[in-house]
Amino acid sequence: MRWWCCVFAFVLTLHLDIIAAKSAAQPPPNAIKNKPRTMPTTRPAADHLSTAYYANSCPNLEAIINQKVNAWIKRDSTLAPSIIRLHFHDCAIRGCDASILLNYPGSEKRAHASKTLRGFALIDEIKAEVERRCPRTVSCADILTAAARDATVLAGGPFWQVPFGRKDGRVSLVKEANTVPQGHENITSLIDLFQKLGLNIVDLVVLSGSHTIGRSTCSSIQQRFSNFNGTGKPDQSIDFNYLNSLKRQCKLDTNFVNLDGTTPRTFDVAYYTNLEKKMGLLSTDQLLHSDSRTSPIVDALASQAQLFTSQFAVSMVKLGNVQVLTGKTQGEIRRNCNFVNS
Ligand code: HEM
Ligand SMILES: *[C@@H]1O[C@H](CO)[C@@H](O)[C@H](O)[C@H]1NC(C)=O
Ligand SMILES: *[C@@H]1O[C@H](CO)[C@@H](O)[C@H](O)[C@H]1NC(C)=O
Repeated sequence: MRWWCCVFAFVLTLHLDIIAAKSAAQPPPNAIKNKPRTMPTTRPAADHLSTAYYANSCPNLEAIINQKVNAWIKRDSTLAPSIIRLHFHDCAIRGCDASILLNYPGSEKRAHASKTLRGFALIDEIKAEVERRCPRTVSCADILTAAARDATVLAGGPFWQVPFGRKDGRVSLVKEANTVPQGHENITSLIDLFQKLGLNIVDLVVLSGSHTIGRSTCSSIQQRFSNFNGTGKPDQSIDFNYLNSLKRQCKLDTNFVNLDGTTPRTFDVAYYTNLEKKMGLLSTDQLLHSDSRTSPIVDALASQAQLFTSQFAVSMVKLGNVQVLTGKTQGEIRRNCNFVNS
């Protein structure tokens, strides 16, 4: 990135912080302060991460990851959104510690909420290659974070520098995984969840913009079709024709529908303009446009594509820094992403 581009993005970010501060019922004090945008504001542990972390110990790491992500997504482009979602589910539970990758009865991966997660085999293949080239050096959490960045770029989204140095966690619990949002929550509970992760309202709306690509199973929207929220009627916040087309595509619970009903394969602001047309797929998507705390941010992003891409990169760095384990005492470098070291 050229210097002027960074300045530009910085100014726009401040602009969004002001929106966030205005629309928050009780703005966290750090939302208004003029802080450098790459500095994590909540978790000091993230200060130990560095883009140069593996510069000596595994100089080809990013090339290895990039090559594998490219090869797999070239064969199956639907993997790009799946890897981005996998990173979110990792970071949302116990922080970005690869706990979602642990694979045994009772682990997060076995939870109901994890049923439609994909991309594990790609991460395993990257890890195997990285272990060959740089044994016992690179964490699974760092691999997943960089893979999500590369998947974003391949999907047509922005590039950002990934800070490295996360350690892998040793704990993964089914019941915690079921606390990730499923698409039927209210906005207050989404805001609360994000706030617990150190993410603000802007991050919530911007990162939900990942739903500009990818798919959902019909089971996540079935409740909108009839007797929504005990009203005896379908969800009234959804466009009538869009609802009918979804019903036709959802003969089976296990069918897929696009999260972005207009440009499902393009990383653009159509996710937000769709919300303005009552065409959000998940009820949580649509609520972002009806709640007064989030709707100004939706409208700002809908009309400024450059703002969306620049802020998406900023918010993804923040997501990747959530509750990270760092240093010599926390976590471990897992040898196999599926299991803790014995
Ligand atoms: C804010 C609350 C969020 C809710 C309620 C939510 C909910 C969902 C649901 C229900 C699905 C479809 C699951 C299925 O039925 O198969 C989905 C898919 C997806 N989500 Fe979210 N999500 C949220 C935030 C995020 C964030 C923060 C990201 C990334 C940074 C993200 C990225 C994705 C992607 C890329 C997909 C498509 C996955 C694929 O095509 O395989 N979501 N989300
Ligand atoms: C939002 O959801 C939470 C958690 O389910 C619930 O406790 C709360 O009462 C809900 N708030 C509103 C306004 O419906
Ligand atoms: C569901 O119903 C409750 C109570 O009638 C209401 O407060 C809430 O806003 C509704 N939720 C949605 C998502 O419409």
